[in-house]
Amino acid sequence: MAIERTFSILKPDATRRNLTGAINAVFEKNGLSIVAQKRVQLTQAQAEGFYAVHKERSFFGELVSFMISGPVVLQVLQGENAMARNRELMGATDPKKADAGTIRAEFAESIEANSVHGSDSLENAKTEISYFFAETEIVA
Ligand code: TYD
Repeated sequence: MAIERTFSILKPDATRRNLTGAINAVFEKNGLSIVAQKRVQLTQAQAEGFYAVHKERSFFGELVSFMISGPVVLQVLQGENAMARNRELMGATDPKKADAGTIRAEFAESIEANSVHGSDSLENAKTEISYFFAETEIVA
């Protein structure tokens, strides 16, 4: 199986509740390595740009406000089948619908404050990684 890279964000509800280590332990125990990482406060422009695909959706304004409500951890995960594996580990967008044992079932507060972002295709992974990281910041 191919070694892939995918993009991950630990969202403000996760940093606020000191869950970054617990969530990253799930990734690391399941074959995903953190090959780039930075903790930042996103600007409104960065959050709007990152979620531009959702700009016509009713929840866009609240989503952007939430994503800038506190620090986030931006990271690149690498491993076999990393994009799909990360999505499986995250669980469904709405924690009420997420399978037991997934990160969102275990940690998320709500559909908005759902602890993690993960790219949903390899093409998006590439775009999202390069939105925040230079190639020289990724060390495998
Ligand atoms: P989406 O890309 O549909 O989900 P995922 O993060 O699982 O790929 O939506 C992006 C984010 O938008 C989602 O993580 C939380 C937020 N969101 C809401 O706040 N309300 C909603 O009804 C939906 C669908 C998403």
